[in-house]
Amino acid sequence: MAAPHEYSPLPPFKRTDHCGALRAADVGREVALWGWVAARRDHGGLIFIDLRDREGLLQLVFNPALAAAAHEAAGRARSEYYLAARGRVVRRFEGTVNAELPTGEIEIAVTEAHILNVSQPPPFPIDGEGTAEDLRLRYRYLDLRRPAMQRNLRRRALAVQAARSFLDGAGFVEIETPILWRATPEGARDYLVPSRVNPGRFYALPQSPQLLKQILMVSGFDRYYQIARCFRDEDLRANRQPEFSQIDIEMTCPQVDDVVAAGEGMMAEIYRRVLGIDLKPPFLRLPYAEAMARFGTDKPDLRFGLELRDLSAAFAGTQFKVFAEALERGEGICAIALPGAHQLSRRELDELAEGLRARYGLGLAWAKIANDGWQGPIARHLGDAERARAAQAAGLAAGDTLLMVAGAAARVRPILGDLRLQLGTKFKLRETGELKFLWVVEFPLLEYSEEAKRMVAVNHPFTAPHPDDLELLDSQPLATRALAYDMVLNGEELGGGSIRIHNPELQLKVFALLGFPRDAALRKFGFLIEALGYGAPPHGGIAFGVERIAMLLCGTDSLRDVMAFPKTQKAVDPMSGAPSEVDARQLHELSIKVTP
Ligand code: AMO
Repeated sequence: MAAPHEYSPLPPFKRTDHCGALRAADVGREVALWGWVAARRDHGGLIFIDLRDREGLLQLVFNPALAAAAHEAAGRARSEYYLAARGRVVRRFEGTVNAELPTGEIEIAVTEAHILNVSQPPPFPIDGEGTAEDLRLRYRYLDLRRPAMQRNLRRRALAVQAARSFLDGAGFVEIETPILWRATPEGARDYLVPSRVNPGRFYALPQSPQLLKQILMVSGFDRYYQIARCFRDEDLRANRQPEFSQIDIEMTCPQVDDVVAAGEGMMAEIYRRVLGIDLKPPFLRLPYAEAMARFGTDKPDLRFGLELRDLSAAFAGTQFKVFAEALERGEGICAIALPGAHQLSRRELDELAEGLRARYGLGLAWAKIANDGWQGPIARHLGDAERARAAQAAGLAAGDTLLMVAGAAARVRPILGDLRLQLGTKFKLRETGELKFLWVVEFPLLEYSEEAKRMVAVNHPFTAPHPDDLELLDSQPLATRALAYDMVLNGEELGGGSIRIHNPELQLKVFALLGFPRDAALRKFGFLIEALGYGAPPHGGIAFGVERIAMLLCGTDSLRDVMAFPKTQKAVDPMSGAPSEVDARQLHELSIKVTP
């Protein structure tokens, strides 16, 4: 417990300024500040304290001749004590200016100071780098004092503010939807909440407000938005959290272009307000099929080339057994041509090959294109004519390395897409400072899931089929394109949406293709089918990930850096210990028994 004179529930005076915001122009002013002791240096006579608040650091000087009591308080202060101080802004003496601090030209000649609270010695230096993330999350309140985290969370707030002001201005109405609701299939597991008053029944936390925003269109709110909290129990990655926020948008009677324009306008406003950058919409639009063929992913990073090449035709009739067998099976040969400027050593090539074999059971065939021919373990199996055709198809020049994988395109392309990103990272091709926005459009409506042994929705089951492909739904459902679109920036999916099905019969037909016959679909989604039956207008929309946007605005690669209290990879909050065990009494009230 702190001594009484080290504890006060009320600050002794009003603050006039933030420490980190004062500058040379403030010299001569009397100011009152509060903040944490970031560093303290006792020079015998004078004591110097760097005081930290949300705007940054400022040097305070305590001179016993000027203010004995304040000097005495400074003598007792330690790291992370919380101080209130008053004094005059003075210019630092020549030779003591700190060019690295925005406040480095000035300091405060303190006349009055109080310790408002003491602190345990912090478990890591707040202003230092390199602390393990587990420890940072355990003491998140200290971690959030760091200037980088202060900046990130404020950028995030500014981004949301910009989105709100754009959407308000464009006639969208902000409407909240329930958190305690029922499952909406967005492809993840649900978080369930037991209902005490309805034993054996559960709410599901929304994976997104998808159905509720559609129902709001039926209700006549023809332009809706919400900063919506979403919950998904899925495998976590650096860019996925179990709980996150979406900027969720829906509108009545849109063309794809209308949703795209709203998304571009909102993003342009966010970048203008947060970073002062003028984006130049319209963004490029890339059909899904082309994105997969050229980049092996539906969220391509367009900051660099290394595009995938299909060399199946070039190697038609080859004697090289691995390629010949693949072609016979109706599969293909997919390749990346690595320019001579980016060399991989023999060892690195072997490691790549080993990695592909271990992870996917696939071989990597590589060849270096030297002036006097192809080199590498498979070169001798390849004839002159096929080498010439491959060189033509892949645009090879002397010095290039050709990396080839044989197999089914659908399987091999994503693997080479990952390899492309690895190479891009290794050769620093992704650090160009560019913002490569694009839309990926014309997603397929359905895909076959080996795991579920049935067709599943690529986007979600409420996405409208492309009107030109309606007949394919019966004959070749997997070839049906969807009216769906994703916004992508530098290899990250920022948002995704679609035009929806607004006809109950078509919705039932899509459910049937997904393995929900009429009865099952009505049991699960009867309320939606019913609502669509009351003059539902055509509608469509999109949702953007707030944290994804903030992550890119802050130049970080982890969502945890833009969330105040994120969860770890294991969906745990190390600070509070959530999820925690609960009282047996609570479980009993909820009619729940936990089996070991
Ligand atoms: P979707 O599932 O594509 O679409 O999600 C939209 C956007 O939300 C973000 N996002 C996530 N962010 C952090 N952690 C997660 N686990 C996570 N999952 C998704 C991404 C993604 O682009 N209802 C539809 C939208 C619509 O059709 O209007 C939906 O939720 O940035």
